[in-house]
Amino acid sequence: MLYGKKLMVASTLVVLMIVGMAATRPLDDKPRHKNLKILPKDISHEDLDKVMDNWKAALGVKCNFCHAPSADSASHRLDFASDAKPEKDIARHMFKMTAKINKKYFSFNKDEQGKAIPTVTCMTCHRGNPHPEEK
Ligand code: HEC
Ligand code: HEC
Repeated sequence: MLYGKKLMVASTLVVLMIVGMAATRPLDDKPRHKNLKILPKDISHEDLDKVMDNWKAALGVKCNFCHAPSADSASHRLDFASDAKPEKDIARHMFKMTAKINKKYFSFNKDEQGKAIPTVTCMTCHRGNPHPEEK
């Protein structure tokens, strides 16, 4: 009797754990990005958000500077996976250029673990301006 009760408590806990895991998993780190060509395919939502916020601030723009509106015009959402806006692809080129500059000319700049510190960033040139060449 007591044994049966203990077994039930234990198995209820196991069921709760599985239900809990299933419920939280899609919310955090399960990557669902469809069209990543330069960022790591398995980047977490959190890290991707950080990169996007960073670019947005460096250029002084909103998300829709690079991201096209959703084809469903009734919704005011952006279609983040779409490559319809040329600015998005320019940003990819800029990202590669920036990585190259750091690798080629600033590789001496490393932290204690030997990890490269990105010396030149989007902000270095853009300073909150999408067109640094115009001043
Ligand atoms: C300067 C241009 C730029 C700005 C501003 C920008 N993004 Fe992006 N975003 C990109 C590029 C480029 C990619 C694709 C990266 C790659 O190819 O690895 C991307 C990818 C994404 C993705 C992944 C889409 C998929 O499924 O492949 C999401 C989500 C996203 N951006 C959200 C945002 C949000 C939210 C903002 C505003 C806070 C924002 N972006 C601002 C350029 C930009
Ligand atoms: C070495 C300087 C430099 C760095 C670093 C740099 N950019 Fe640029 N970027 C420029 C210049 C200059 C232009 C304007 C080019 C032109 O259109 O003549 C530009 C243009 C752009 C444009 C196009 C704007 C438009 O309206 O057409 C985007 C988008 C962009 N940069 C994103 C980025 C992002 C994102 C990063 C960081 C990953 C970055 N840039 C890093 C110099 C830089």
